[in-house]
Amino acid sequence: MRHADRHDDEQAPPARLPRIVSVIGARPEIIQAAPISHAFRGHAEEILVHTGQHYDEAMSESQILATRLPRPDYNLEVGSRSREEQVELGRVRLLELIERERPDAVVVRGDTNATLSGALAASAAGVVLVHVEAGLRSHRMEMPEEYNRIQTDRLSQLLLAPTPGARRNLEAEGVGGEIHVTGDPLCDTLENARATVRPADGEYLLATVHRNYNTDDRERLAAVLACLARSPWRVVMPLHPRTRARLHEWRLEVPETIDIVEPVPYTRMLELERGAQAIATDSGGVQREAYMWGVRCVTLREETEWTDTVQAGWNTTVGVDADAFERALAAPLPASRPPIFGDGRAAQRIVRTVVDFLIAGASLRAGLARQGGGSSNEMEVEVVA
Ligand code: UD1
Ligand code: UDP
Repeated sequence: MRHADRHDDEQAPPARLPRIVSVIGARPEIIQAAPISHAFRGHAEEILVHTGQHYDEAMSESQILATRLPRPDYNLEVGSRSREEQVELGRVRLLELIERERPDAVVVRGDTNATLSGALAASAAGVVLVHVEAGLRSHRMEMPEEYNRIQTDRLSQLLLAPTPGARRNLEAEGVGGEIHVTGDPLCDTLENARATVRPADGEYLLATVHRNYNTDDRERLAAVLACLARSPWRVVMPLHPRTRARLHEWRLEVPETIDIVEPVPYTRMLELERGAQAIATDSGGVQREAYMWGVRCVTLREETEWTDTVQAGWNTTVGVDADAFERALAAPLPASRPPIFGDGRAAQRIVRTVVDFLIAGASLRAGLARQGGGSSNEMEVEVVA
């Protein structure tokens, strides 16, 4: 375990501010973290913990730099291993850290193994668990992400849903925690960058593929490539390390029209997205960003958690059906694009909601203590029930 130095310009906040352990681990969590970390300043003391699930320079360090995320205080160096081992090692190391740092809350985001490790550790330590990006569902249980997000939502005391649809999913499941719709911090990240993003040159389709069920089956991955080969434009494909490993393992031939490149930093990714004729992806983040730019998205999955983008007519789920892929690329686009992901101020809302929740919990605990009531842990359970 490594303890990184804090930036010199960061001042230690007063002791009375709430202490938050914020967990990141994989690329999308790193990219979404910056606006929340910045919004915490002055309102809470954030201890930023990277589980180390992603560790390649292109997946982690270059994304920290591209999004100007404060340097994580800890890296738990969990690395690549089986899903069970990754979740368990992250849980054990996070639990140890939580017991040492004694935060008022643990904030996790999304649906990765790092998310679930953080949720299990907070729950074991009896610390308030906050889930950012709560309530998304694919209803596809073989996705590890679906399991991770359902378990995390069940364990959370505060559930921060990016959209009203996500809130409805949580209400339908009857989760026990308090639910708020905050907007999507990924929208904040993009809106903060929008004015400086120059579209990349040329005519091309931008593609990213990394979902386990698209990559871990040889025939399915070959079918993904066959879809991309139908693109009327050359394909630019920043390749996830998981997909690179599978292409190599199975010696799959990549069609000549596909330009494979290394994963790119977020700032370059925005340029590629903005300049693309269309985007083909199985990424949750890239589907949302395509919508935010007003670029057509074809999703190489049978389903999506981000159903609002499909209903708005800007995203089509085609699975790996090459004919459907071609049809989707040629279909007319709608004239309008209503805002789905908020106003770019999700981070402020998230921070305010977390701090208010903790203050309300603390006042209730203080009130109970004055009346000779239960211990603070008992009260925490009572507050969130
Ligand atoms: C993970 C998340 C997924 C998210 C994706 C973002 C889970 C279950 N899945 O999937 O939700 O969309 O991150 O990119 O948490 N590897 C490297 N270098 C790295 C990281 C990974 O080479 O820095 C390779 C390793 O071979 C590893 C494989 O990629 O075994 C998969 O990595 P892992 O973090 O387990 O899952 P992802 O597919 O990246
Ligand atoms: N992304 C990036 N470089 C790449 C591919 C993706 O910066 O080469 C960004 C993308 O813009 C989005 C995020 O990674 O913000 C999405 O993460 P990913 O696709 O890894 O995971 P998912 O969103 O599917 O969980």
